Amino acid sequence: MEFRVLAVGDVVGNPGMDRIRRSLRYLKQKTKADFVIVNGENAAVIGMTPHQGEDIFDAGADCITMGNHTFAKRELCDYLDENNRVLRPANFAPQVPGRGWAVYETKFGDVAVIDLIGRCNMDYTPDNPFLQVEKILPQITAKYIFVEIHAEATSEKLAMGYMLDGRVSAVWGTHTHVPTADMQVLPKGTGYVTDLGMTGPKYSVIGIRPDLSVAKFRGDLHQRYQWADGPTKLDAVLFTIDTVTGKCLAVERVDLTDENPARR
Ligand SMILES: [Fe+2]
Ligand SMILES: [Fe+2]
Repeated sequence: MEFRVLAVGDVVGNPGMDRIRRSLRYLKQKTKADFVIVNGENAAVIGMTPHQGEDIFDAGADCITMGNHTFAKRELCDYLDENNRVLRPANFAPQVPGRGWAVYETKFGDVAVIDLIGRCNMDYTPDNPFLQVEKILPQITAKYIFVEIHAEATSEKLAMGYMLDGRVSAVWGTHTHVPTADMQVLPKGTGYVTDLGMTGPKYSVIGIRPDLSVAKFRGDLHQRYQWADGPTKLDAVLFTIDTVTGKCLAVERVDLTDENPARR
């Protein structure tokens, strides 16, 4: 038997939320996914509100992961403490609200999800995610373990994949909002992809209106960032897991994207 897990890239702004409401349940059915994990850290562009979290669950998510923007909306603090289906990075300082990993019951057996954040080119210094995950894994007896590494550097994410190869069912990256094409089963049976991508405006610079991003890189006077309008996309990766061994059998992209209006 197979256990199918759908991992969805960072949801960005109202366009991303609209796309999730419109498409997640459809994609879950189409891929026959048994468990859905969505990164929600950009639902409010910077952060996520509890209301948006509830909307993502209503759309079909079983677990929401966060990243460097976890605490941008302070009203999320209580929500994180009260709701074990929303995870913030496990290697944040231990005194901050919420939890970085949890175990969920499913009809296939227990599923553990661990959220980690990288340290390369990030604007703060959490605990070492490689050492932190080594402290967490011995506490978990779940048959299936999924690890998200929210990080900028592709090398940091790949290194995490290889360190955990054969010890967890799958490892994926988030944060760059740019989907990578390296879906693979690593040599010892762990599913892997460096970055899921994002859910939000298709024609954008990581979700933001291109003209605003171009202006920033040109050095123009700063304007407040705003998400882009127009067609949207949902970037997601499906991991098929063997229910006997807990190892990954297949990793595939199952992205949804609106048509380019110029081609109509
Ligand atoms: Fe991020
Ligand atoms: Fe993000």
